[in-house]
Amino acid sequence: MAEPILTLSGVHADIEQYHILHGVDLQVPRGELTVLLGRNGAGKSTTLRTIMGLTRLRRGEVRFNGASISGMPTPQIARKGIAFVPESMGIFALLSVRENMSLAASSGPIDEGRLEWVFGLFPPLKRFWNRPAGNLSGGQKQMLAIARAIIEPRELLLVDEPTKGLAPAIINDLADAFEELKEQQASILLVEQNFNFSRRLGQSVAVMDDGRIVFAGQMAELAGNEDLQQELLGLSLGAHQ
Ligand SMILES: Nc1ncnc2c1ncn2[C@@H]1O[C@H](COP(=O)(O)OP(=O)(O)O)[C@@H](O)[C@H]1O
Ligand SMILES: [Mg+2]
Repeated sequence: MAEPILTLSGVHADIEQYHILHGVDLQVPRGELTVLLGRNGAGKSTTLRTIMGLTRLRRGEVRFNGASISGMPTPQIARKGIAFVPESMGIFALLSVRENMSLAASSGPIDEGRLEWVFGLFPPLKRFWNRPAGNLSGGQKQMLAIARAIIEPRELLLVDEPTKGLAPAIINDLADAFEELKEQQASILLVEQNFNFSRRLGQSVAVMDDGRIVFAGQMAELAGNEDLQQELLGLSLGAHQ
């Protein structure tokens, strides 16, 4: 098997005096979409923040493209080619969509060809280009947050619960955009709690509980095994979100 683009080995992390991650082992294959599932409080967001160097790694290692990034400052990790869309999205409500995008293009003016590609993924951003980002719907804000993360080429995209609080029709639009990113062989680690959205997109999947990975495998394996879903995620038969 080719080397994964990202590997976490025995990662421990603390938030203040609390020990949150208890030896996380996780692999993100290159060119695939990997879903990280788990109930509220399992440690999914902390895992992403630890990868980005926003939460301090106490023990273990994070490797990106075959080299350790453990303990590196966040800006350096980002410059290595990892984009992060946090749960809070990090957009500027009072600035226009255009201004939000311009600020995200850190190495110079926005590349026009790439912008057209982003508009193809997220058409509302073109429609509302000069509107304040704060006036967008929840789904459109999420689109803007992802667009900001990918306006410059990145090797790996980390996204924290993009479907949270969104209406089904918008979730469907987001799924279409992720499908298109997948077709272009993007490497993506997607944190989710929405299993139906995840099963549609995920190739690999890992499930977390209590700061540890309790299952890792192919999404097809988990999607086809309702007993396993019940055991790992507490999903009951026919009662998916
Ligand atoms: N700032 C914080 N202070 C103390 N505990 C926190 C803080 N942030 C998160 N935690 C705890 O860390 C655990 C993992 O949280 P988190 O990574 O946000 O989980 P998830 O994203 O899977 O819902 C939870 O038990 C949560 O209560
Ligand atoms: Mg979270």
